[in-house]
Amino acid sequence: MISPQTIQQITSRLDIIDVVGEFVKLKKRGANYLGLCPFHNEKTPSFTVSPSKEIYKCFGCGKSGNTITFLMEHEKYSYAEALRWLAHRYNVEIEETEVTDEVKQQQQVADSLYIINNFAQKFFTEQLFLSNEGQANAMSYLEERGFTEDIIRKFQLGYDPQEKNAFTTAALNNQFSGDLLLKTGLVVNRNDELMDNYRGRIIFPVHNNTGKILGFGARIIGKADKAPKYINTPENEIYSKSKILYGSYFARQSIDKQDECLLVEGYTDVISLHQAGIENAVASGGTSLTTDQLRIIKKYTNNLTIIYDGDEAGIKAALRGLDMALEESLNVKLVLIPGNEDPDSYVQKLGANGFREFVAGNKKDFILFQLEVMLKEAGDDVNKKNDTVNKIAETLSRISRAEDFTKQQEYIKQCASLLRIDETGFTTLVNKYKRDRVNQEEKRTAFEDAKNLQQNSENTVQNFDDTDLLLQQDELQERNLLRVLLEYGLNSWDEERTIAQYIFNEIEQFYFDNSELRYLYETYKTQYQQGFEPTAKTLLYHEDDRIRNMVVTATFFPFELSQRWDEVMENMNILNKDNSLQDVLMSLNYFKLHKIKKMFGENQRDIEQSKDIDEQMRLVKIHKELKEMEVKITQQLGTVILK
Ligand code: CTP
Ligand code: MN
Repeated sequence: MISPQTIQQITSRLDIIDVVGEFVKLKKRGANYLGLCPFHNEKTPSFTVSPSKEIYKCFGCGKSGNTITFLMEHEKYSYAEALRWLAHRYNVEIEETEVTDEVKQQQQVADSLYIINNFAQKFFTEQLFLSNEGQANAMSYLEERGFTEDIIRKFQLGYDPQEKNAFTTAALNNQFSGDLLLKTGLVVNRNDELMDNYRGRIIFPVHNNTGKILGFGARIIGKADKAPKYINTPENEIYSKSKILYGSYFARQSIDKQDECLLVEGYTDVISLHQAGIENAVASGGTSLTTDQLRIIKKYTNNLTIIYDGDEAGIKAALRGLDMALEESLNVKLVLIPGNEDPDSYVQKLGANGFREFVAGNKKDFILFQLEVMLKEAGDDVNKKNDTVNKIAETLSRISRAEDFTKQQEYIKQCASLLRIDETGFTTLVNKYKRDRVNQEEKRTAFEDAKNLQQNSENTVQNFDDTDLLLQQDELQERNLLRVLLEYGLNSWDEERTIAQYIFNEIEQFYFDNSELRYLYETYKTQYQQGFEPTAKTLLYHEDDRIRNMVVTATFFPFELSQRWDEVMENMNILNKDNSLQDVLMSLNYFKLHKIKKMFGENQRDIEQSKDIDEQMRLVKIHKELKEMEVKITQQLGTVILK
């Protein structure tokens, strides 16, 4: 791991304008910089970068973040890769911290697995190209299937001889340990004897996005009657089936360029398409799509075209991935290959151009396709038709991102018309499914949380007077308090205490209801108490993205709201002096007032429900104490106002 000191050095040197400016043409506008958003298509610039806050935000598509998230989004870097890029640019030498033994050991295993896989690939390729058996058994078969030598070399295909331990012996002679060899799945243990798992099979290496070999698929030669057609690498430290898209290393540039990803089922489909020059194709490995796989695709494009066999199994498999793809906001199209063909055989039959034309001419909208299939199945059966209406409404309810609203409206219209039902009623049904799911969904991401909050407060801002508005939502109070903590925490409150210490002490008995904000508060407090000096800027580069997101949320106060807040402060005549202390005091008081009001309500309920007289007395006492606290705070706010 990169040490906190290194991160600190990097973040103290970096200049967001300099970094973002490398990729986006920026013009100065007042305190900020403005440019065309690199994350969506636009003609007039709405991408804003604030050098003082070190954040960017696009008012067109809503994307926001800091220098590191910019590099992660724009260049598809991981957090560590982004830091390394910045370290290089700003001449910071990277210091790595000690990692835990467990992590270290895992890394060592992973490194060894890569080395073994690399060795294995070379061994298998050599067998395919140079041994008589490889030529006679495997190469002839591959040629018969129409694969050229170029493509075989590009995809690094190979062959494992029939002899029971050809690879095992070579690997053991090369000093690889038996345990690690077993982990790769290349070797198995039969009656205490290690032997090759892929004997007599064609080997397809599976690469990650940077070209390293994660594992292998091994195909039997000819028909698979007794043994399975393919054997794949078992899950291990580097091979995780649900996160792999076969061919992504060879396809990613083309996907980016074409702004479309073709998804097929198998190894040979990918290879044939690439051989035909159709290089934006990847495979899911014959299982239904996972969210992780969809996210890999989404790094490069929003347009996914699924090309599956037209048989029932193929259609079912494709439909299984649909709901998830919609949630990831991908535009999904479907192409079904006719007859007994699959993309591999079909592209070889039609040729590259023929296949391209076929795909272009047969793309179906996925949702409308699903509707078509279900309507055909339902026929005149009223119950089945009813099921169809519900299923489609459920599907449409998954198109829920704000930016997809128009798309959803369009679908509702089309589907209602195909179903011959009333559009308004159908809209209500879609919304019902959406609400149901929202209710169930406990785990919302911090970022969505923040976005919703921002929307809510922007929508309701006209309907409340200042005090009500500032009091109406717990989260606003919590955010506001974190804002002042991040902004002024290190300044002094009085001769003895910093503002942070004052705040810690004052809210000891209260609790942050929003778990993400609580996490940020606790992280701040811990860092502070350990002698680090946390600020919005240092936490903006925290390694945990929950913290980074929450810092943006807390400091990017909704614009209208912050304006209101300034107005309140101005009315109270406290702007233009050193207003930080007042800001802290007000924020703290509103926070407390809100919590107290809530406790009031809860206490009131307890009193009503309590049957025991002693208990009631105790609760009434609490009631009085809360009342006193409330009076005190209101008075204090009053003094501030009168000052
Ligand atoms: N698959 C698998 N294990 C099997 C069968 C299939 O892992 N026993 C996966 C493989 O990734 C395979 C994909 O599912 O590529 C699609 O299966 P299938 O259509 O049967 O194979 P093809 O890829 O078409 O292979 P081929 O053209 O050589 O028959
Ligand atoms: Mn096939």
